[in-house]
Amino acid sequence: MKFNSNLLKKLVTVYGPSGNEGKIREVIEKEIKDYVDDIFVDDLGNLIARKKGNGKRVMVAAHMDQIGLMITHIDDKGFLRFTNVGGINPYTSLSQQVVFENGIIGVISSEPMEDMAKLKLENLFIDIGVKSKEEAEKLVNIGDICVYRSEYGENDNVVFSKCLDDRVGCFVAIEAIKQLKDSNNDLYFVFTVQEEVGLRGAKTSAYRIEPEIGIAIDVTGSGDTPKAKPFAVGLGKGTAIKVKDNSVLTHPKLRQFMVEVAKENNIPYQMEVLEFGGTDSGAIHLTKEGVPSGVISIPTRYIHSTVEMSSKEDIINSIKLLVKILERDIEI
Ligand code: CO
Ligand code: ZN
Repeated sequence: MKFNSNLLKKLVTVYGPSGNEGKIREVIEKEIKDYVDDIFVDDLGNLIARKKGNGKRVMVAAHMDQIGLMITHIDDKGFLRFTNVGGINPYTSLSQQVVFENGIIGVISSEPMEDMAKLKLENLFIDIGVKSKEEAEKLVNIGDICVYRSEYGENDNVVFSKCLDDRVGCFVAIEAIKQLKDSNNDLYFVFTVQEEVGLRGAKTSAYRIEPEIGIAIDVTGSGDTPKAKPFAVGLGKGTAIKVKDNSVLTHPKLRQFMVEVAKENNIPYQMEVLEFGGTDSGAIHLTKEGVPSGVISIPTRYIHSTVEMSSKEDIINSIKLLVKILERDIEI
């Protein structure tokens, strides 16, 4: 399988913080519409694509939204204060560039700090290079959201980018849609909104679809950097099959099934026990009477920074595993 760098690069470049997924949704819709039987957008903005079948109703979810910074205040000199939309870390934000939907660029800087260990988001401000509040207000408004701005990069084995969380999950789902051949299952691919602020799009779309099986595709951390907390997931060691995070315990039979499929197809995999965080499966599995759900994770370093890093091989293996799972009759 060839790694489709152009598509991943496109996906991570498009603006789409939580609640503002219109542009990225358009890109994904164009990419998949010729490969599915039915495609529509629901009232909250989720993009739902169906490949019809007579078997189990399976919902595959990847979130389109990315974390962002929302403007809360503009001072007399035109400096912007902000709050977080999703998990924004003050240390990884410092000295980064941001960009608004209208293309206006800013840089994040900090008030002088005596003790950098005390740095909080409220000490940071965004400088868009204007002289006054009036000048600033011509370019940005209270409530506008900007996102990190950084260049997509690649080595032979890894990719570097902002918002691999979760555009790489969208990438895996898109590539799987294109590669799927025979499947009896009734497949719903949902590109969800507002995951980063609490799995909201997955919750409402699962209510509508009433899936019998749920599978989220998202990034997970890694335990293989210097002095990292012990965590048995590393880059380049395969796709990760989630056992648990703070939002879901993968249904044991589904987990077993996923492992079986990986083994049968010689797809390298690792088991993921994440002690924090959540994914769309956290919302899906609690729908109505409950939906057995699991997650295919892409091991990723430096999540929620401008330099997230994933292995191309792991990404390819995640696509392979998803395709093989969806082509099987899922008996659990
Ligand atoms: Co995230
Ligand atoms: Zn995510």
